Amino acid sequence: MTDPSIRIEGTQLEPQASSGGAAEAHPEAERYYVRFTPIQRWMHVIMFSTFLGLAMTGLTILFSSNAWAQHFALAIGGFGAILFIHKFCAVILTLEFLYHIANIAFRVVVKKEKGLLWGPDSMVPNLKDLKDIVGNFRWFLGLGSKPRLERYAYWEKFDYWAVFWGMIIIGFSGYVMWFGPFFGRFLPGWALNAVQIVHGEEAMLAATFIFSIHFINGHLRPDNFPMDTTIFTGVQSEEEFQQRHAEEYQRLRAEGRLGEKLTCKPERSLLKVSKVIGFTVVAAGLVLLILSVSAYIRE
Ligand code: HEM
Repeated sequence: MTDPSIRIEGTQLEPQASSGGAAEAHPEAERYYVRFTPIQRWMHVIMFSTFLGLAMTGLTILFSSNAWAQHFALAIGGFGAILFIHKFCAVILTLEFLYHIANIAFRVVVKKEKGLLWGPDSMVPNLKDLKDIVGNFRWFLGLGSKPRLERYAYWEKFDYWAVFWGMIIIGFSGYVMWFGPFFGRFLPGWALNAVQIVHGEEAMLAATFIFSIHFINGHLRPDNFPMDTTIFTGVQSEEEFQQRHAEEYQRLRAEGRLGEKLTCKPERSLLKVSKVIGFTVVAAGLVLLILSVSAYIRE
């Protein structure tokens, strides 16, 4: 949401001006649009830092016979400390997940925001996503033009749902291991052994997916290389908006709502911090990916 009093280059913005809104009043190079709210950006920070903490500590436990895992555990303060960090990050991530579910339930049930479950702004997959998948493959093969994407591309929805269901599986199995004697009252013995295998395999799948596919989609593909800072700054430039979410851009323009999203260029210091954090996380993820995949293959 754009603050109506916001100024860009000394010009007062009119959020709901004619067809293209305030966008019409500004030279293209200066226009930036809000994509993520501060809460969404902070949720992502909490999610990636706890996920990285969980993956680093969890994979150190899983591959504890490897020299790198033993050195890492020793540097942190031993396997007791590794387990403490794992559980600490698990609790924070669980609280965030529960907040997310409660927030969606509130917005759908109380605020009656139907658009959250269906429509162009929704995370729920629809027919257009299917058409975009086919369109993208046709484009890869030089058989058609690049599909014009809505607010969330099909691969962004895939990432979201992969984490969503992954969180349920990995979280449930994690708590069963953590509170084994309690769950042992309801579950058969073999199930308690199975959850450990499920937790470890799902962790490998999640870490491999996030540290390869998600990082390539988010940062390393030609459109975004070397780093997409939108999730940190919350804004995208006019050019990025038109290129990455052409259908949404056109829809908002046609509805005269483009100006609602118009905002200022991000501060240079915020951009710098975003890049440093982004590169650090990508580098840490890639190192962990190489170490754990090579350990997994050798086992
Ligand atoms: C709510 C989320 C989670 C909870 C409650 C949780 C809890 C646990 C617990 C209690 C253990 C057993 C440690 C032990 O005593 O040996 C464990 C192991 C492990 N965790 Fe998690 N964890 C969670 C999320 C994650 C995530 C997101 C990852 C990685 C992406 C992960 C990776 C692992 C791995 C690889 C192991 C070792 C499994 C094995 O020894 O076979 N965990 N976790």
